[in-house]
Amino acid sequence: MNDEPTVKRPSRLALLRNWISLLGLGILLSSLFAFVLLFLLDSLAHFSNPYVGVLTYLVAPIFSVVGIGLGVVGMIWRRFQLARTVGAPPALQIDLTRARDRRIFGFFLVVGLLFLLLTAIGSYHSYHFTESTQFCGATCHTVMQPERTTYQHSPHARVACAECHIGRGASWYVRSKLSGAYQVYATLFDKYPRPVPTPIKNLRPAQETCEQCHWPAQFVGNLDRTFTHFLSDATNPVYSVRLLLKVGGADPTHGPVGGIHWHMNVGNTIEYYASDASRQKIPWVRVTDRTEGVVTEYHTPDFTNAPNPEAIRVMDCMDCHNRPAHVLRAPNDAVDLAMSLHDIDTSLPYIKTNAAFALVRPYTNLTEALEGIATFLDGKYPNDPRIRKTIPAVQQIYKDNFFPEMNARWQVYPDNVGHKDWPGCFRCHDGKHKTSDGKREVKADDCNACHIIVAQGNGPQLEQLDAHGQKFEHPGGDYDKGYLCNDCHTGGP
Ligand code: HEC
Ligand code: HEC
Ligand code: HEC
Ligand code: HEC
Ligand code: HEC
Ligand code: HEC
Repeated sequence: MNDEPTVKRPSRLALLRNWISLLGLGILLSSLFAFVLLFLLDSLAHFSNPYVGVLTYLVAPIFSVVGIGLGVVGMIWRRFQLARTVGAPPALQIDLTRARDRRIFGFFLVVGLLFLLLTAIGSYHSYHFTESTQFCGATCHTVMQPERTTYQHSPHARVACAECHIGRGASWYVRSKLSGAYQVYATLFDKYPRPVPTPIKNLRPAQETCEQCHWPAQFVGNLDRTFTHFLSDATNPVYSVRLLLKVGGADPTHGPVGGIHWHMNVGNTIEYYASDASRQKIPWVRVTDRTEGVVTEYHTPDFTNAPNPEAIRVMDCMDCHNRPAHVLRAPNDAVDLAMSLHDIDTSLPYIKTNAAFALVRPYTNLTEALEGIATFLDGKYPNDPRIRKTIPAVQQIYKDNFFPEMNARWQVYPDNVGHKDWPGCFRCHDGKHKTSDGKREVKADDCNACHIIVAQGNGPQLEQLDAHGQKFEHPGGDYDKGYLCNDCHTGGP
């Protein structure tokens, strides 16, 4: 006989009938709708807007997850409530011989597969999106503006930020997202350092980033580079120096090992200890020749103790090429370049000095700087029509290289290739790094060790090439050999 209670027990779907689950469902449906709409927008639009990306691949999925979570929490809560009043719903029984069960099962299968597909597309795009240059460079635009702007003018403008900053593989992806989470917090709550400090403490080693594209064993040989300067005189005289840089190579199977890329010799390891956070002071260097098993240590006279082993760094590409993507040009270099391109009128008396000076005056934001530059130069050349074209050129230099909101300018980002404005190569090649017995030193006094000067001066002088290398005719005159170039040259006026 049927002695079941007359009260009808609630169906499973009824568990959803509570305000928490309904809210969750609402959120889920609207986020799915938003995702599909934004996804179409992002795929079809010809422009790419980082905010559409953030909404599609980060915000919408977060809302979907919150929606599903709320739905489940609501159901559990409702189940609890019902169990206390009318008793729990019967245990789940699926019987595929029943047509109704088959229909329901089929429905869930289709919806489930659709949802999985959407999740797959979504997470694939989320992964790519969070690795994209838009996301890294444009989303937090004030913070990343210096790096992004300089990157766009660099030889790597078509290389994604993530190729150098994260590289391949899952573990660095996860690491970068963990530190990224902190960076998002720092950006939202305005807790980030200005300027963003350099060097980056835990940058991925060059073998796993740079060397994925640049074949380290490649033999480069000699590179011919001309540096053109304008001196700070009324007539802005030109001084150019044409160098043959002995870049050389690092792998005997591809060419002679030697020259500047000798440091990357496959058979050697060079390690160093820097006594400051910006790695500008290097009192200790060790070379290990792995084929011969010879170890040589060089140190400056005032550094006699052994460095802390944890602070020793293995030299890689980034110890010289530390600004491959983000050069904040020094005002002297930027003005020299604009003058050689005739963007700045070279016939204006003292324009080299004045333009450089206009750039380095203290400004608190971009608008103030652009106005300040115009007023300053107008004041120096009143009623001179030649200044009309020059002012925008100087303002453009400011926009590309100075970021007052981030306190970012050339002075806070040393460039380690070369030795004129920064110690660079002379951090080790300064004549002070010797072995303890004083018998060997890191090459320094020979100006022809790394390059030869094939021509210098201006006009016809530049056509008299000298294969042996000329003696450097310093435009600033003779100076005491105890000085390093960057004791006088700072990049500014
Ligand atoms: C060719 C490789 C490369 C690319 C591409 C690249 N960077 Fe860098 N980035 C570097 C190197 C190298 C450093 C300096 C590392 C060091 O000295 O420790 C650096 C430094 C930085 C720093 C630290 C502050 C500073 O200026 O030193 C930030 C922030 C940064 N990059 C952001 C970006 C962003 C955003 C992008 C994409 C728009 C990007 N980078 C693209 C190589 C790259
Ligand atoms: C995704 C590939 C890729 C990665 C990763 C990469 N580069 Fe490059 N690099 C390039 C390309 C492409 C060029 C431009 C070559 C050209 O135009 O001749 C270039 C050019 C250069 C140049 C010559 C620049 C000049 O002034 O002509 C240097 C130096 C350099 N890269 C160093 C680095 C360093 C250091 C890293 C690691 C921080 C790095 N690259 C990472 C692709 C890459
Ligand atoms: C000791 C410093 C030093 C180290 C370490 C170093 N380089 Fe260089 N590299 C130079 C100098 C100097 C030049 C000459 C160009 C210049 O002055 O910008 C150069 C030139 C280059 C060029 C330009 C070649 C061309 O044809 O234009 C590339 C690419 C390059 N290096 C990649 C690398 C890579 C990749 C590594 C790491 C495996 C590396 N370098 C390590 C100093 C260094
Ligand atoms: C961290 C220290 C350090 C820095 C920075 C450094 N070097 Fe060196 N370099 C060395 C050491 C050590 C040697 C080998 C000295 C020896 O044992 O003969 C060397 C050797 C050389 C050689 C001679 C290679 C040969 O054929 O014997 C050249 C050329 C050279 N460096 C160029 C440069 C240039 C250019 C730069 C800057 C872009 C630079 N170095 C930066 C430490 C450094
Ligand atoms: C350890 C290697 C090394 C030694 C030693 C060296 N140089 Fe250089 N020098 C370089 C490199 C590398 C550059 C190229 C920098 C660049 O690409 O921006 C350079 C650039 C220069 C320039 C052009 C700078 C500019 O901006 O116009 C001059 C001039 C110069 N060196 C003179 C000298 C003189 C003089 C000596 C001897 C006292 C000397 N160098 C010794 C590596 C060296
Ligand atoms: C005692 C200070 C001092 C030292 C040290 C010094 N210079 Fe200069 N240098 C000057 C002065 C002053 C000028 C003239 C600047 C002008 O007229 O604009 C100058 C001009 C130059 C110029 C042309 C103009 C410019 O600003 O680029 C170059 C290139 C140069 N020096 C390279 C070097 C190199 C390379 C070294 C190291 C090997 C060096 N200088 C060491 C003071 C110095």
